Amino acid sequence: MENGGAGALRIRQVLLLFVLLGMSQAGSKSGRFSVAEEMQSGSYVGNLAKDLGLEVGELFSRGAQVVSNDNKHRLQLDLNNGNLLLSEALDREELCGFTEPCVLHFQVLMKNPLQILRIELEVRDINDHSPVFLEKEMLLEIPEHTPVGAIFLLESAKDLDVGINALKSYTISPNSHFRIKMRVNPDNKKYPELVLDKALDYEEQSQLSFILTAVDGGSPPRSGTASVWVVVVDSNDNSPEFEQQFYEVKIPENSIQGSLVVTVAAWDLDSGKNGEISYTFSHASEDIRKTFEINQKSGQVTLTSSLDFETIQSYSIIIQATDGGGLSGKSTVRIQVMDVNDNTPEVTVSSITSPIPENSLETVVMIFSIRDRDSGDNGRMICSIPEDLPFVLKSSIENYYTLETEGTLDRESRAQYNITITVTDLGTPRLKTEHNITLMVSDVNDNAPAFTQTSYTLFVRENNSPALHIGSVSATDRDAGANAQVTYSLLPPQDPQLPLASLVSINADNGQLFALRALDYEALRVLEFGVGAADRGSPALSSQALVRVLVLDANDNSPFVLYPLQNGSAPCTELVPRAAEPGYLVSKVVAVDGDSGQNAWLSYQLLKATEPGLFSVWPHNGEVRTARLLSERDAAKHRLLVLVKDNGEPPLSASVTLHVLLVDGFSQPYLPLPEAAADAAQADPLTVYLVIALASVSSLFLFSVLAFIAVRLCKRNRAAWAGGCSEPEGHFLGQLVDVSGTGTLSQNYQHEVCLRGGTATNEFKFLKPIIPNLPLQCPEKEENPPFCSSFGFSIQ
Ligand SMILES: *[C@@H]1O[C@H](CO)[C@@H](O)[C@H](O)[C@H]1NC(C)=O
Ligand SMILES: *[C@@H]1O[C@H](CO)[C@@H](O)[C@H](O)[C@H]1NC(C)=O
Ligand SMILES: *[C@@H]1O[C@H](CO)[C@@H](O)[C@H](O)[C@H]1NC(C)=O
Repeated sequence: MENGGAGALRIRQVLLLFVLLGMSQAGSKSGRFSVAEEMQSGSYVGNLAKDLGLEVGELFSRGAQVVSNDNKHRLQLDLNNGNLLLSEALDREELCGFTEPCVLHFQVLMKNPLQILRIELEVRDINDHSPVFLEKEMLLEIPEHTPVGAIFLLESAKDLDVGINALKSYTISPNSHFRIKMRVNPDNKKYPELVLDKALDYEEQSQLSFILTAVDGGSPPRSGTASVWVVVVDSNDNSPEFEQQFYEVKIPENSIQGSLVVTVAAWDLDSGKNGEISYTFSHASEDIRKTFEINQKSGQVTLTSSLDFETIQSYSIIIQATDGGGLSGKSTVRIQVMDVNDNTPEVTVSSITSPIPENSLETVVMIFSIRDRDSGDNGRMICSIPEDLPFVLKSSIENYYTLETEGTLDRESRAQYNITITVTDLGTPRLKTEHNITLMVSDVNDNAPAFTQTSYTLFVRENNSPALHIGSVSATDRDAGANAQVTYSLLPPQDPQLPLASLVSINADNGQLFALRALDYEALRVLEFGVGAADRGSPALSSQALVRVLVLDANDNSPFVLYPLQNGSAPCTELVPRAAEPGYLVSKVVAVDGDSGQNAWLSYQLLKATEPGLFSVWPHNGEVRTARLLSERDAAKHRLLVLVKDNGEPPLSASVTLHVLLVDGFSQPYLPLPEAAADAAQADPLTVYLVIALASVSSLFLFSVLAFIAVRLCKRNRAAWAGGCSEPEGHFLGQLVDVSGTGTLSQNYQHEVCLRGGTATNEFKFLKPIIPNLPLQCPEKEENPPFCSSFGFSIQ
């Protein structure tokens, strides 16, 4: 095109020279025509004759012809009518390029005369070219954050047309960042410029494209387009940013090492190295570094050692994310360690009192505190002791408790308590601690020794050997130690005259009782005394028991015949009338036995008689009766030997001689009535021997007394009664005769009978009842002290 342009210029110069020459030669007139380019060949351009003022025939006659400077035959002349026609289509752009107006010069040559007429043909432009971009695609690289208003030049488009058909303006397709601006150079060239209306952000849009359109001014306008690609160049304009500014994590304290705690994530909008992120802890404490670790690439925080809620409950870790360009962002991770019930409750004993004395009122036994290092329910505790113990737990300040006795303790019922204090927390699962204490109860001397029996009845046979062990008393003391050591003693007798200490002794240590000398049943049947048992407590406690020693009878007394008296200076003689019937009561042998029971059961038998078969003796009562009728032939004097035998083992016996005189004409019974005896007693001193036996009977209201009184009436004044009476010598012994046979004597009443000494008087006196606590005594002391004995009877 440029070359073409240069060629056209040269043609024009030649043409111009030629025209100047011709004008100077001819000086003729000229015509001007106009035709649009691209008209078809043969298109009418104008009428030469008319335009030049010539006759049509003249043109023909003068042989007019149109010539161009370049000998191109673009026009042809119709000599017949003078019309000027295109001989070919004209391309204005080819002929003139950007020259405007585009004028072609022709000459019309006519001969006869030679005449040269100039004509000009203007080739008018038509819009037959569109604007064209030489580059159909344009690439722009623009750094992000280039200031708004920045201008970027674009390639311009070219339009071969001229004038209004030339390139008129540029447009771009709608987009968010750019607008188009047209720059017109002084040479009238028009350039498109991109103006940045809105900052570019790589992270938002890393590239964009639009269509650049060039439009000409033709009608209709023509246009051409090109694509424009804008590539946004990234800069490190973004710091890494965490997804969350604050991470909150809860992790159980028993998590194993290596557990994933949290994964943090940050992003960076930048690209390349600017967007590469690595994670680190920022200003982490020693605790954090020991416990956690972060993966630089993945942002995973893991556990590297064990957690302990009780030590550290939470961690606050600042995590930094740094990009390759050195920008960083931060986030905080708060790790809350969750309590797990991993601590059992603990019991700390502050004080404990053991042993504790019995009988003391509410006593603090123990002070202790409890603790659970867990928190929440895991650390809440319940403290208890078994319910069946006489102790209570009392909550004191804080976590302190006291263990107290509920009342008084009794060592004798329980001397030791094993108390289990159970502390349970309320966590899941529940953890519990047991604390065992052993509590001893110490003794207080609160128990007196107790005898095994309130009274002891001991039996011994009389005539024992001295120092005989007759039995034991025993007392126990429920206390302990010295409080339970028992010492036995004899208590002072109620009767101060009873020589107790010479009769019995007690072993202080074991309570064994000994008879110090031989006992005599007949002298002392019952020995009653108190024994004491004392412990060694302070003060000592003691108790008493009654010991009753019943002396057992031995058959150590022979029967003693009261009647008839033996050894008398004048032995008694029984008088029996010869006319007596058989069975006549001749006499009665009265005997006593100092012993008791069977030992005193007497039986009588006729051992020897002057005339056997005449008299018989009743074995049970000693009555001597005639066995048959008497006759004259029977001798007057008889001697009967009667044996009195007791029932002891072996039996002891005594014999008595009875003198019987058979008399004629006397038939009165021998024994007088008691009244008669009383009368007789008034009349004459009598020696009266009295045996009273009072028998007990089973009925309360029946009370029978059997008494028999053997009275010997010796009427010394009666001459008919030969012989005299004499009082027995030796002890007169009263005795109980168990006539009922039951052997039961329950309550004794004793009466003292004294036989006054002195053979002259022989007085018998019924003195007074003996009350058990009164000493046995005789009313007065005399030269010849009376024989005293006691009679007893019993009532049941
Ligand atoms: C208390 O515990 C001890 C030792 O375990 C045991 O010997 C004793 O018998 C227990 N006492 C009671 C009253 O359970
Ligand atoms: C506490 O005593 C109880 C009951 O005697 C027993 O079962 C338990 O094992 C004891 N605990 C300890 C810690 O000795
Ligand atoms: C009594 O007489 C008996 C024999 O008849 C004799 O053995 C005894 O010694 C006498 N007693 C007295 C005290 O005279």
